[in-house]
Amino acid sequence: MKKKLVVLTGAGISAESGISTFRDENGLWHNHKVEEVASAEAWKKDKALVLDFYNQRRRDLKDKKPNYAHLRLAELENRYDLNIITQNIDNLHERAGSTRVLHLHGELTKVRPEYGQYEEDFSEAEVFDIAYEDVNIGDLAANGSQLRPHIVWFSEDVPKISKAIDLVEEADIILIIGTSMQVYPAAALYRYAAYSTKIMLLDPASMPSLDHRIMHIRKKATEGIDEIISLIDSY
Ligand code: APR
Repeated sequence: MKKKLVVLTGAGISAESGISTFRDENGLWHNHKVEEVASAEAWKKDKALVLDFYNQRRRDLKDKKPNYAHLRLAELENRYDLNIITQNIDNLHERAGSTRVLHLHGELTKVRPEYGQYEEDFSEAEVFDIAYEDVNIGDLAANGSQLRPHIVWFSEDVPKISKAIDLVEEADIILIIGTSMQVYPAAALYRYAAYSTKIMLLDPASMPSLDHRIMHIRKKATEGIDEIISLIDSY
C-alpha cells in the first residue's frame, strides 16, 4: 500500500524556472498593485488592464521550463499515492509529468465565462485551455459573456479548498515547498493533517513563527529536494 503524500507548493518552486514570486524582493506584487490587476473589483473596473496583466504572464510562461524540483516530484508518483496541491497558476508541474495537480488558485492557460465561479457553474467545455495565447475584450464565451482568466482573484472564493482539505486529512506525509504561507485558506491547510502526519517545509526563508510541528529545511527547492525526498523515503 503506497503512502499518501501531499505536496503543497507555492511560487517558490517555480522561482528557479524564472517565474517571479509575489512577495520576494522585486516580486510581482512589488511591481503591480494587486487590487489593480488581480481582484474581482479590478475586473469590474478595468477588464482590459486585468486581461493584459495575465496575457503578459501567459506569454512569458511559454518559454519557462520545469526545474529539477518539479521533475523530482513528478517521479514520486511511482512510489507514493501523491497529490500536488499548488497555489501556482503556472503549468510547470504538469509539464514535469505530474498527473494529479490541484490548482487552488486556478490555471493561467485556461479561460472561462466571466459569470459563475464554481465548477458546477460551468459545463466541461466552458472552461478551456488557450495555451499561451492572449484573451482580449470581445473574446466571448459560448453564453455570450466576456471570457476571463480561470484564476481565483482576491476577494473570490477558493472553490477547490474542500477537496484540498480532504487530501490533507488523509495524508501520511505533507511536504510544503516555496510558499510564504501568508495567503489563506491555503496557508492553513496543513492544520487539517492528522497528528501523526509528518510535515516538512522546503523554503530558503527564515520563518520565525513557523508551527513547531513543521520540520523546516532552509534551502532552495532544487538544492533541498533530494535531501527532503531521502527523508520522506526514510519514514
Ligand atoms: N526555492 C524555494 N522557495 C523559494 C525560492 C526557491 N528558489 N525562492 C523563493 N522561495 C520562497 C520564498 O522564501 C517565499 O517563502 O517562496 C515563497 C514565495 O512566497 P510568495 O511570493 O508569498 O508566494 P506564495 O506563498 O506562493 O503566495 C501565495 O498569494 O498572491 C497570492 O495567489 C497568489 O498563489 C499566490 C499566493
